[in-house]
Amino acid sequence: MSSPRNVIVTGGAGGIGRSIAEAFIERGDRVILADLDTEAVTAVATQIGATPLIVDITDRDTAPAILADAAAGHGGIDVLVNNAGLLSLHGSITELDPADYEATLRVNVLGTFLVTQTVAKAMISAGKGGVIVNISSIGGRQPTPGMGGYESSKAAVDSLTRWAAIELAGHGIRVNAVAPGPVLTPMLAMAMPEGSEARAAWESRIPLKALAATTDVAAAAVFLASADAGHITGVSLPVDGGQLLT
Ligand SMILES: NC(=O)c1ccc[n+]([C@@H]2O[C@H](COP(=O)([O-])OP(=O)(O)OC[C@H]3O[C@@H](n4cnc5c(N)ncnc54)[C@H](O)[C@@H]3O)[C@@H](O)[C@H]2O)c1
Repeated sequence: MSSPRNVIVTGGAGGIGRSIAEAFIERGDRVILADLDTEAVTAVATQIGATPLIVDITDRDTAPAILADAAAGHGGIDVLVNNAGLLSLHGSITELDPADYEATLRVNVLGTFLVTQTVAKAMISAGKGGVIVNISSIGGRQPTPGMGGYESSKAAVDSLTRWAAIELAGHGIRVNAVAPGPVLTPMLAMAMPEGSEARAAWESRIPLKALAATTDVAAAAVFLASADAGHITGVSLPVDGGQLLT
């Protein structure tokens, strides 16, 4: 096992973020859980042995300083996982509320950009390279009616991944994304209980016939951040049970 690294996971209080953080901690890394939900992030960090960091990643006046301070305070950041995202605001092209679209783009695109910019600067000045993993979605490549606002934000995350990868490669920083299909988070399990019509409808689109577990997404993130993925940069890796094949 390689030596412990400092890892930031944004949106770490949520279903997938928690699982990603646990997977890094399991391999011996130190994790900073960054989230705007003070209560939830403090509780989750305590439960899993991470350090909580309260930050709104869309706030350009405060987020860069909070993240830069955290990086400096921990002796640098080796791995950034841009996982925070807004995935609840949907509507058809003729009906989506523009304010909802703007809110989604702010978190998923602007927020991911702001955190990447800040942490990349810290990685460049530390001069030790680094790894960035963005949590995208196969929706960025395969449309589902009614979800296009969210999906277009994830297409932008895939593009941002390639943008950062080409510019940061010279600094020894690799940038990739994990693109899940629907993931069985506690929230989704509640919204679509086993046996429900909604769950069956999603499963019927997936050749492997199951939604992803949060640990499937975490395993891909840990792999992309590892030395085993040392020659991989600029990709968005589907973790979708084959859904993109259909
Ligand atoms: N759940 C799925 O089916 C699924 C599928 C594909 C991709 N994803 C992506 O995975 C990521 C995590 O999803 P999840 O299902 O765990 O969602 P979640 O809602 O459980 O977690 C998201 C977390 O992000 C935090 N967050 C939101 N806005 C923030 C901000 N401005 N600053 C800081 N933190 C903020 C929330 O407080 C929350 O803790 C998202 O990027 C999502 O788009 C999810």
